[in-house]
Formats: sequence, C-alpha cells, structure tokens
Amino acid sequence: MQGNTLLLHIFTLFLLLGATSSSAKDGINDRINSKQVYIVYMGAADSTNASLRNDHAQLLNAVLRRNDKALVRNYKHGFSGFAARLSKEEANSIAQKPGVVSVFPDPVLKLHTTRSWDFLKYQTHVKIDANPKTLSNSSSSSDVVLGILDTGIWPEAASFSDDGMGPVPSRWKGTCMKSHDFNSSNCNRKLIGARFYSDPNGDEGDSTPRDSIGHGTHVASTAVGAAVTNVSYYGLAAGSAKGGSPESRLAVYRVCSNFGCSGSAILAAFDDAINDGVDVLSLSLGASPGFQPDLTTDPIAIGAFHAVERGIVVACSAGNSGPSSYTVVNDAPWILTVAASTIDRDFQSNVVLGGNKTIKGRAINFSPLSNSAQYSLVFGETSKASNASLAEASQCQPDSLDGNKVKGKIVLCDGRNDEYSTSEIIDTVKAVGGIGLVHITDEYGAIASYYGDFPVTVTSSKDGATILQYINSSNPVATILPTTTVVDYKPAPLVPDFSSRGPSTLSSNILKPDIAAPGVNILAAWTENSSDDDVPKGRKPSLYNIISGTSMACPHVSGLASSLKTRNPTWSASAIKSAIMTSAIQSDNMKTPITTDSGSVATPYDYGAGEMTTSESLQPGLVYETNTIDYLNFLCYIGLDITKVKVISRTVPDNFSCPKDSSSDLISNINYPSIAVNFTGKATVNVSRTVTNVGEEDETVYSPVVEAPSGVKVTLTPNKLQFTKSSKKLSYQVIFSPTLTSLKEDLFGSITWSNGKYMVRSPFVLTK
Ligand SMILES: *[C@@H]1O[C@H](CO)[C@@H](O)[C@H](O)[C@H]1NC(C)=O
Ligand SMILES: *[C@@H]1O[C@H](CO)[C@@H](O)[C@H](O)[C@H]1NC(C)=O
Ligand SMILES: *[C@@H]1O[C@H](CO)[C@@H](O)[C@H](O)[C@H]1NC(C)=O
Ligand SMILES: *[C@@H]1O[C@H](CO)[C@@H](O)[C@H](O)[C@H]1NC(C)=O
Ligand SMILES: *[C@@H]1O[C@H](CO)[C@@H](O)[C@H](O)[C@H]1NC(C)=O
Ligand SMILES: *[C@@H]1O[C@H](CO)[C@@H](O)[C@H](O)[C@H]1NC(C)=O
Ligand SMILES: *[C@@H]1O[C@H](CO)[C@@H](O)[C@H](O)[C@H]1NC(C)=O
Ligand SMILES: *[C@@H]1O[C@H](CO)[C@@H](O)[C@H](O)[C@H]1NC(C)=O
Ligand SMILES: *[C@@H]1O[C@H](CO)[C@@H](O)[C@H](O)[C@H]1NC(C)=O
Ligand SMILES: *[C@@H]1O[C@H](CO)[C@@H](O)[C@H](O)[C@H]1NC(C)=O
Ligand SMILES: *[C@@H]1O[C@H](CO)[C@@H](O)[C@H](O)[C@H]1NC(C)=O
Repeated sequence: MQGNTLLLHIFTLFLLLGATSSSAKDGINDRINSKQVYIVYMGAADSTNASLRNDHAQLLNAVLRRNDKALVRNYKHGFSGFAARLSKEEANSIAQKPGVVSVFPDPVLKLHTTRSWDFLKYQTHVKIDANPKTLSNSSSSSDVVLGILDTGIWPEAASFSDDGMGPVPSRWKGTCMKSHDFNSSNCNRKLIGARFYSDPNGDEGDSTPRDSIGHGTHVASTAVGAAVTNVSYYGLAAGSAKGGSPESRLAVYRVCSNFGCSGSAILAAFDDAINDGVDVLSLSLGASPGFQPDLTTDPIAIGAFHAVERGIVVACSAGNSGPSSYTVVNDAPWILTVAASTIDRDFQSNVVLGGNKTIKGRAINFSPLSNSAQYSLVFGETSKASNASLAEASQCQPDSLDGNKVKGKIVLCDGRNDEYSTSEIIDTVKAVGGIGLVHITDEYGAIASYYGDFPVTVTSSKDGATILQYINSSNPVATILPTTTVVDYKPAPLVPDFSSRGPSTLSSNILKPDIAAPGVNILAAWTENSSDDDVPKGRKPSLYNIISGTSMACPHVSGLASSLKTRNPTWSASAIKSAIMTSAIQSDNMKTPITTDSGSVATPYDYGAGEMTTSESLQPGLVYETNTIDYLNFLCYIGLDITKVKVISRTVPDNFSCPKDSSSDLISNINYPSIAVNFTGKATVNVSRTVTNVGEEDETVYSPVVEAPSGVKVTLTPNKLQFTKSSKKLSYQVIFSPTLTSLKEDLFGSITWSNGKYMVRSPFVLTK
C-alpha cells in the first residue's frame, strides 16, 4: 500500500438546529403527510408520580387514535416523551397538556464540514494518548461500556477485535440490530451493541448500523479501539494505534447518515443507551453556534441530563467554530465539553528555491516532483489574465490566471485575506496547466491538509515573505518536496483555530469548554467502503484515516473516562469529570504556557482546565462532585419554574424547591470543578465549593496555591483542608475582591489544592 493516496473528507457532524423544513428528507415526509415531526418532551420516565406516568400514556393514545401513522418514536426508558407528525395546532395544544415540558420541531440535521475550507482533510500518524504503563492492557477486559452516537461502525476493523476479552457483562441489555449488511455475528465481546435509527420514510441504505462514512468508526477506535500494530496511512507515519481505553466495551448508536443526525433519533439513542446499560456516552456532534436551542429544546442537553442523572458520563465535542468567542456548544453543566489541541507531530512539505534555500511548508501530499529546484516558479499576480485585477490574480482567484504564463510552472498564490480554500486554488491552477502550488495563508494554522498527489504546500505569511522576495529575482525556480513526518514537533499541544471557544452563551457563571484533548491529525480506523469518492485512481481506500476536529478530541476524553470508570467503578459521573479536569496541564513540551495557533497564551476559554493527562487523572486526590440538586438549581436559575423542574428530574426530593433568590449569580456556587464569576455591579463575590477526598490516605492536609490575576484579591477560607476518616468531604469559600473599580477585561486564574502528593487544580474566570 506504499504510495497509495486517499483524499479524505472529514465530517464534523452538526445539527443545524432552528432551521425549518425543506431538506430532501422533509420533502419525502411532506408527500406522505403535510404534518411536521415534533418532539414532545415529558421529563423523567420513571417518575414516582403516577399521574405523570399516566400523562405520557394518555397523550400518546390520543395521538395514535387520531392517526396511527403519526408516531415516529416513543421515549420511555431514560426519559418520557415521543416524536410524532403533528400539525402546528396539535403541537401547540399538546404543549399545554400537564406533564409536557416542551414541544419542538425535530431539528433539521446536516452532516457537514464546519467551514467551506477543506481544512479537515489530512493525514498523519497520531500518538493515541494512552499510557500502557498506567492504563490496563488490551488483553484484559473491563465491564465498562462506552456508547457512541455517530455514523455507525465498520465492525471488521481490527480495532474492534475482541481478542482476550471476557464474556459480555451479564447486566448488558443492548442488542445487535440486523440489517441487509449487518447481523449479530458482526458483534463480539468488544462491540457488544449496535443500533440504528433510520427514518421510516428515509433511504433504505441508512437502515443499518454499518458506517458508510467513516466518522463513527474513527471516533470509536480512538476511544476504545484494541491495540493494532503496524498501521499507517499509505506508509506515512507508520506505527501502532490504540484507543484510550482498549479494555472497554463498545456500543454504537447510528443516529447520523449523509444528510445529518436527526434530533428525534439522537433522543431515541439516549433513551436506548440508558436502558442498555452504558457507562459513558460520547457525542462528536452538535448544534451550530448561532442555532443553539435552549436547554428544554436541545436533544443533546435533554438526553445528556437523563443519562447523567443515572450516573453515565456524557462527553461531547465543543464544536469547530473557533476562534471567535461564544462559539462553544454542548455546554450544559452536566456535559463534559471537549475542545481540540494539537499533538507533537507535524507534516511538512517544504519548498526548495534556487540556491537550495528551503522554506517550511505544511501539507500532506505525495509530490512526484524532483527534489531539486528545477521548475519555474511564477507569481499569480504577474501571471494575471488580461481581464483580471492584480489582487484577484495574486490570490489566484477563479479565472484570474493566464494559462500562457502558468503552464508547466509552479504557481505562488498569496492567499492572505482571501476567501478561497487551497483546494479551490488547486482547481484554478490545474485548469491553466500549472504543475504545483505554493499557497501563502495562515488560515490552516497547525493543520496539515491533504492534497493527494498534486504538489501543493502551504506556507505561513511569515515564511511566505521570503518566497515573495525571491520571486522577484530573474528566472526564479523551485520544487515542492513530498511530505515528511516531523516528530517531537514543538510547541505542542496548542489550541488550533477551529476549536470552538468560550465563554458559554448559556451562562456566564459556568466556565466552558471543560477540557482539551488531541483533535488534530488523528489516525484511527476508517470505513473500508467509504462513500468518499476522493480515493485516487488505482488505489484502495486506506483502512486508517487521519482527520481533525473536536469530533476527534471528544473520544480521547470519553476513552479516558472509560478507563477511570474501570479503575473506580463506584465513582460518580461528576467525580470522573472532576478527575479529568483537575489533573489537566497548562504547559506545552517547551515547558512554556500552552498557546493558541496565533501564538497568544491560551486561556480557559480556549482549553477549559487545560490539556487532559492520562496518568494524573487516575489519582486525582480530591474530586468536586456535582449532584442532581446542583443541576436542578441550575434549571431554576436559568428560569424554569418548579413544576417543570419536578417533571424533568426523576430524583427530585419532595422537599426541593427553587431557591427563593434564583439569581443567576448562584450558578457560580454549583459545585463545579472550575469557577466562573460575573463581576458586573459587584464589589466582592463569595463562591463555595466542596471537595471529597478520594486519595489513599484518610488523614491528610491540603493547602492551596492561588494564581490570581493582578487587580484581584483572592482569599480562601479555610486555607487548610484537614481530612480525616470521618470527614471525607470539606467545603471552602473563595472570596474574590477586585482592587479595581471595574474589570476592563475577563480575568483568569487558578486555585490548586495540594497535600504534597496530589495537585487538584481549578481554573477560574472573572467576567466583567
Ligand atoms: C403529580 O403531577 C401532577 C401533574 O401531572 C401534579 O399536579 C401533582 O402535584 C404531582 N404530584 C406530586 C405528589 O408531586
Ligand atoms: C496486563 O496483562 C498481564 C497479563 O495478561 C497482567 O499480568 C497485567 O497485570 C496486566 N496489566 C494491567 C495494567 O492490567
Ligand atoms: C451474518 O451474515 C454473514 C455474512 O452475510 C453470514 O455468513 C452469517 O451466516 C450471518 N449470521 C447470522 C447469525 O445470520
Ligand atoms: C507492516 O505493514 C507493511 C505494509 O502493510 C508491511 O509491508 C510490513 O511487512 C509490516 N510489518 C510488520 C512488522 O508486520
Ligand atoms: C540542499 O540542502 C540540503 C539541506 O538543506 C542538503 O541536504 C542538500 O544536499 C543540498 N543540495 C544541494 C544540491 O546543494
Ligand atoms: C475573463 O474572461 C474569461 C473569458 O472571457 C472569463 O471566463 C473569466 O471569468 C474572466 N475573468 C474575470 C476575472 O473576469
Ligand atoms: C517585487 O517587485 C515588485 C515590482 O516589480 C514590487 O512591487 C514588490 O514590492 C517586490 N516584492 C518584494 C517582496 O520585494
Ligand atoms: C453579568 O451580569 C450583568 C448584570 O447581571 C449582565 O448584564 C451581563 O450580561 C453579565 N455578563 C455576562 C458575560 O453574561
Ligand atoms: C464493500 O464494497 C464492495 C464493492 O462494492 C462490496 O462487494 C462489498 O460487499 C462491500 N462490503 C460491505 C461489507 O458492504
Ligand atoms: C430535604 O430532605 C433531605 C432528607 O430527606 C434533607 O437532607 C435535606 O436537607 C432537605 N432539603 C431541604 C432544602 O430541606
Ligand atoms: C463570604 O464568606 C465568608 C466566610 O464564610 C463570610 O465570613 C463572609 O461574610 C462572606 N462574605 C460575603 C460578602 O458574603
């Protein structure tokens, strides 16, 4: 397979929420029934209130009596409700019925790359972030089950071998659904469950758990794939691949296909997964920032709430809409929200100029050019078509180049500030006979994109300046070298531009994202029969693929969560989340603070608590446990009334009521592993936290180290936490008092408790 190439399409799965009808799918529905699918959400499934349980049955019967084809899905395990074809009037009327929390149109869902740019196409070899010394080895097996909601699975991939695994846990209630190309023999002791949720009126080809896209297979093998040696992407960057928790079991819920992921299917998968008995759920999909629904109409927030209430850890990707602020999605406080970071591996395709001067370029290509600079190099600007402007030609915009000046030459295009992707420019250059492309742009940052066998490389504007200067010499020449893998690349990790950023739009009192994990150039298993038509002529699709996105970061964290659950079966979902967050690191492999792609020091809005670690999180020392009451209070603070709160939760105590002072400021007091405070109009803010000792020693004393931003005084009371056999839980107060009258900008800092052995760090943000 040496030398083979494969053009990769990377998908980040996005729910396009808020849009109305008009997809092809709705077109079909429209013909069958002019009514739209609505989701009727009715809160907890097993409420102790018999009258609430009745409400579900009665409403459902009423809908079925009117039209027995109206029902699309019924939710009854993890929570209560249904999806049905209803008229607007019917939907409005149902919304008024007792026991109904919300009624909302089934979101129109789309699979798409997050930008028009093809920045999500590449290959590299990735060091899957699992330390064999600290994590159990693949020959052992755990009864922890990771569920993945995605595009399905390619079960034949070596990553899903069950070699050495013990029998399927007896408590497992999941199933391996049969379809035209999938049956129970595709499941094994590793892949223990596979379900699909095709639209009853949709494409027959989607009625299978089999992954025809690759995304779901990639994510699954990253999280829990067995160790597979000697894998590579067409010989580049060969090595072995292993998931974060190779001992864990896998259950897949196919909720996405080429047209996207429907909200009603996502809810059905949550409903099943809760009942099947998963321990951790991983979702590499979400809403687009502008279309984020509120908590009672967001299928992921709803499903995750019920999963977390039953002790399931739910990790979700933060989105690929960075680097602007307020772009993070999946930011409910019960979700573990994952940003992306780079790893210490780079893919360089350098440019050699006459005189053997080498300029750094970043790309993945299998350039057939000679290694010596023997090809004429021309600038787009000086090769302009007569009717094009200099600016258009310098950026090599479509139809702006004169073929006579470009044919047989390598073309230099200055892409700074333009809106065309490298792929679009390749089309332009190829169309007029160019033989290679050097694209100057900072758009891709740390990402090496994949360009097949056309010689293409991307240089930063800084490095590109040298080429722009050189091209003024007489008879400029160049070549583009084929890609080499650079290991121990520094600095790493850094936060790539695409990773979505905080603050959270949901509340300025919860810090999001929570954590960062590798999401750039990740090598993992792929679908053999990819529907991708980019496989070059004469080449077989690769069994492994290298792709990027917060989609790839999420399974690193869900895999780690599965490992923690294996080690600590009794830990709550929030203890696992806390362990992952408080053990994160903030410095890179140059021992300097982690930066963003643009070079600025990363803040918690970029990476939450920091980059995840695999060994420290196994022994966190202390954990911040966030309980259901915290989440119920959150619902109160964001404005839900007590009747709705009581319907939503199955464990709401009889004596629970929304706090009298339901100020959103109280959200800061939710026992979260990080702290966010809104300082507007306040002189001092008190925040309280409770930590639980999970270390080996019962008797131990923790002292704090505070990193405070200048202009703010941070006081802790008490400033020693003395744990004993009888006091495993201790609380403390943080008093923030700015010494300035008003904050000019959001400020960041941290509080680290340590007993000399463990460091338990919480980042904080003070917003103006
Ligand atoms: C049970 O739910 C109904 C609404 O369907 C509500 O009126 C009633 O107060 C609830 N009973 C209890 C004990 O919470
Ligand atoms: C790895 O496997 C070996 C033998 O199968 C076993 O002795 C060892 O304890 C395992 N290591 C871990 C960390 O589970
Ligand atoms: C599953 O499908 C395979 C291949 O199509 C077939 O050989 C096998 O007999 C089937 N197994 C069952 C249990 O249906
Ligand atoms: C690794 O894979 C390559 C290509 O598939 C093959 O040529 C080579 O023999 C393999 N090496 C080992 C040690 O299995
Ligand atoms: C060009 O430079 C590289 C190192 O940058 C060197 O290995 C190579 O031999 C040089 N080639 C020529 C023709 O000087
Ligand atoms: C220039 O003219 C060609 C042929 O007439 C046309 O295809 C192209 O779009 C024009 N380009 C610009 C930049 O207007
Ligand atoms: C190259 O030459 C052009 C004019 O011939 C000039 O405008 C430009 O600034 C020069 N570029 C560099 C980098 O020297
Ligand atoms: C902080 O609180 C003030 C007043 O309550 C509010 O107007 C402002 O929007 C809040 N800031 C953020 C970032 O939410
Ligand atoms: C993959 O595609 C090939 C060729 O189209 C087909 O023969 C084969 O059955 C497919 N495999 C699966 C598992 O769908
Ligand atoms: C509710 O009752 C529980 C015991 O059933 C008690 O621990 C808790 O403090 C009570 N909460 C309130 C707000 O009264
Ligand atoms: C903050 O908490 C401390 C310790 O509990 C308390 O003494 C103080 O009065 C509180 N301050 C405010 C402003 O609430």
